[in-house]
Amino acid sequence: MKRVAIFISGGGSNMLRLVDSMTGDHPGRPVLVLSNRADAGGIAAAAARGIATAVVDHRPFKGDRAGFEAALQAELDRAAPDILCLAGFMRVLTAGFVMPWAGRMLNIHPSLLPKYRGLDTHARALAAGDAEHGCTVHEVTPELDEGPILGQARVAVAQDDTPDTLAARVLAMEHQLYPAVLRRFAQGDRSPLLLP
Ligand code: GAR
Repeated sequence: MKRVAIFISGGGSNMLRLVDSMTGDHPGRPVLVLSNRADAGGIAAAAARGIATAVVDHRPFKGDRAGFEAALQAELDRAAPDILCLAGFMRVLTAGFVMPWAGRMLNIHPSLLPKYRGLDTHARALAAGDAEHGCTVHEVTPELDEGPILGQARVAVAQDDTPDTLAARVLAMEHQLYPAVLRRFAQGDRSPLLLP
């Protein structure tokens, strides 16, 4: 059984999909949900499901990334996960944190990587006139939104899409993609999954 920790910063809808998928014959079990924001809605939702939660506020560590990351790692040392999933965790992690987790850390990003690393992915896809957009789950490496791709899901862009309408359809695909990729990853399968 693989122990799975999940980092969030907000509502945590992807986190909840991951948590709820880890039942029955699933090879993973959630052992920690951590947020860098105490008011992240996902923390209460995870606690209500009986999962251990932690908050490591980044603000007291202003200018001290190493200190912030040491505090994150201390929580991971307590929970002893085998796999770490970033699910809407909106802090950049440095190589010092990422490297020890190489091959064991996943992230979901709302674009078809390598397109649109970073923020505002939906607006950028619309501005470029893309006919399709989507989301990617990838292994985390020190470069932002790089790393081997484990799965992608595509969404057709509609003529009248706004960043919000497009984001909503991409998020619905994220909810399918991330649990499917985590299940495969926990079984040792790193071949890319393509949805739909
Ligand atoms: C998701 O769309 C995720 O892909 C994105 O944040 C959202 C979190 O939603 N992540 C990033 O932009 C990472 N750079 P959620 O809290 O409801 O899962």
